[in-house]
Amino acid sequence: MIYLNGEFMPIEDAKVSVLDRGFIFGDGVYEVIPVYSRHPFRLAEHLRRLQASLDSIRLANPHDAAEWTRLILRLVELNAPDDQSLYLHVTRGAARRDHAFPKGVAPTVFMMSSPLLTPPQPQVDAGVCAITAPDNRWLRCDIKAIALLPNVLLRQLAVDAGCAETILLRDGYLTEGAASNIFVVCDGVLLTPPKDHLMLPGITYDVLLELAQAHGVEHQVRKVTEPELRGAKEILLTSSTKEVLAIIELDGRTVGAGVPGPIFNRMYRLYQDYKNRVMRVPGVDAT
Ligand code: PDD
Repeated sequence: MIYLNGEFMPIEDAKVSVLDRGFIFGDGVYEVIPVYSRHPFRLAEHLRRLQASLDSIRLANPHDAAEWTRLILRLVELNAPDDQSLYLHVTRGAARRDHAFPKGVAPTVFMMSSPLLTPPQPQVDAGVCAITAPDNRWLRCDIKAIALLPNVLLRQLAVDAGCAETILLRDGYLTEGAASNIFVVCDGVLLTPPKDHLMLPGITYDVLLELAQAHGVEHQVRKVTEPELRGAKEILLTSSTKEVLAIIELDGRTVGAGVPGPIFNRMYRLYQDYKNRVMRVPGVDAT
């Protein structure tokens, strides 16, 4: 079942106007929320980021947090798997094609659930390879915009090269992945770029930094240079659906020892333990 503009229905019955500004202009924003054991992970944080994205594109939030929570929990209930990936999406609605904002048009609100497919254990154990590419996206990568053509093209470069992710470099600095945030390990310190308009403020990124802080893993949030990325002993990728993955090859060159390293192993374990502790326990309200 999906949710569209106030109704839950089978996906086959869902219809959106061809004039929808999401379809015509990519004029909308979205969220992807992992659900574990039917508990949405970090829901408040996802809803806060949605609000920030909506504010950035000057679109009024159609629902308050309580209403979003109610709709999301109902959608989770209506779908079979205990672990789900929730996609939610708000566009500026359907109107005659004109770049300027339409007046008096209701936004389109769409949500769907898919089974949450986190990386299989052999992939987690082996790590994945990545390539680099110049970050040729716009300068508002902090907005979770549905207009993802640059990210689609960049991710496809990785797929064409038989890799899992494209790591982006802008003006000699690491920004993020095509659909993930990136951490590196240099001189034993976990490094990741600070949140700014050049990257998406990842929810998983926040969790990793909190876990590093809480468990005494030496870390710094600061700009990471291209030589630091290329010379890193470990590279980690984070996202809601990929959780934490080790990158063991970059542009065909081995990263560190060519296997997931000690800091990855530590962070991966901490992430799984945290997830199981806050999400898998029946009756406990997850945060
Ligand atoms: N993408 N950066 C980009 C460009 C992303 O698209 C994503 C996530 C992230 C990681 O953010 P988070 O930890 O909140 O998932 C970083 C989602 C999963 C997607 O588009 O499917």
